[in-house]
Amino acid sequence: MSIALRLTLWYAVSTFAVVLVATAALYWSLVKAMYNEDVSDLADNLDYARLLIRSSPESQSALAFRLQSRSAPRSAIYLRLLDSDANPLTESPGMKEELAPPTKEELATLGSIQSNPHRSFSRSGEPLLSLLARVDGEKSPGPPRYLQIAMERGHDEQFLVRYRAHVWFVLGLALVVCAFVGHLIARTGMRPIENIGRAAARIRATTLHERIETRGLPAELSELASAFNDMLDRLDQSFRHISQFSDDVAHELRTPINNLRGEIEVGLSKSRSAEEYRAVLESCQEECGRLSHLVRTLLFLARSDTAGDGLQRQKINVGEELRKIETYYEAAAAEAGIDLEVAAPGSVHADLDRTLFQQAVGNLVANAMTYTPAGGHVRLAAKTCQSGITVSVSDTGCGIAPEHLPRVFERFYRADPARGNSAQNVGLGLAVVKSIAQRHGGHVEIDSKVGRGTEVRLILPVSA
Ligand SMILES: Nc1ncnc2c1ncn2[C@@H]1O[C@H](COP(=O)(O)OP(=O)(O)OP(=O)(O)O)[C@@H](O)[C@H]1O
Ligand SMILES: [Mg+2]
Repeated sequence: MSIALRLTLWYAVSTFAVVLVATAALYWSLVKAMYNEDVSDLADNLDYARLLIRSSPESQSALAFRLQSRSAPRSAIYLRLLDSDANPLTESPGMKEELAPPTKEELATLGSIQSNPHRSFSRSGEPLLSLLARVDGEKSPGPPRYLQIAMERGHDEQFLVRYRAHVWFVLGLALVVCAFVGHLIARTGMRPIENIGRAAARIRATTLHERIETRGLPAELSELASAFNDMLDRLDQSFRHISQFSDDVAHELRTPINNLRGEIEVGLSKSRSAEEYRAVLESCQEECGRLSHLVRTLLFLARSDTAGDGLQRQKINVGEELRKIETYYEAAAAEAGIDLEVAAPGSVHADLDRTLFQQAVGNLVANAMTYTPAGGHVRLAAKTCQSGITVSVSDTGCGIAPEHLPRVFERFYRADPARGNSAQNVGLGLAVVKSIAQRHGGHVEIDSKVGRGTEVRLILPVSA
């Protein structure tokens, strides 16, 4: 069921319920007011008749006439005068057919008081309201006499029947009006949502720059539209990254493939000696090695993005691992004239994936050695810190300009392609380091000053 239909139903039902209750309350108070008025009218007539009988007993015969109510002229009033044995002395014409006389017991229980109004039906089915009362005071001589007075209420009933018919008609009309107004309100309320839906449906991969207009929207929907626009911002950014990434991948794959093709074409252009073919094949092998390294790295990053952490954690002595890495790079450092040292106490331990940890620190050391000239220093250090352990690789190399620093962890981003070995370095090393840190639940920081050197810190939790 649509929201508009639900709102319409809720509105119509609740409004109709309120109207129904209000009408019922009004009807009830009208019925009560009419009844009270009839009772007081009957009591007035009773007093008047009692007065007449007391003042001139011979005028009793006047009561034999069918009296008309003074306040409700269309309601007939009947009177009956009774002796103490409940025998009628005189009565209005037709009264015998309308209302039976009271019993002797009823008169005996009455005493000096007037009875409560009594509702009954005449023999002809007419609703009646009657009262019974003593004519004379307690101290008056002779046996007591009683008056029975009754009023026909058929007119009231007919009025109420007509009134009820009107009320039902008006209520039916109110239901239709409530449903219609509810529908209008729901449609108007839903229009901004429909507009948002239409705007959202228009957005495609090629029109990700489009945004939903938030001006003029109600507060709740404005929040929703802003959240939607924020999501589009993020999607747009991700799309740009993916598209940039695909461009970079294509570009980086094209270079070694072109190199391969060039070397093969040169090799095949004329007949060559076995030595020359060997040299061409070796060069091709080297190029293939670079290609497969690039593809492996890209696969690694792609899997890190989609898979869970997938780590094979084990307790490792971080200082020991750093010393192993130092040993691995020692020869290259000596050749490049760089001083490589490790400063880590043996007490730093953590649950890490050994291979990935070595890969991350290896990438940092490779960078430090690439961007540090001969005579420079590269230092590996480890210590415990508040959030786990900090492993840092610092150098005294060329440093990174501040405008590049925020982007060096992006894939394929190279701060200064003129430096380093542009055939070897593609700009994925730091992206891999960041990905490894995140898979361990940690993060990576970088500080650098142009001409002074760079420090990269891996901050990792001690355990998962
Ligand atoms: N220690 C450093 N000193 C100076 N610049 C650095 C240092 N480490 C990284 N950079 C800069 O950051 C860029 C990104 O580094 P990253 O390791 O991601 O890529 P790369 O070293 O160029 O290539 P790859 O590591 O994929 O072979 C580098 O191109 C370089 O400009
Ligand atoms: Mg690198």
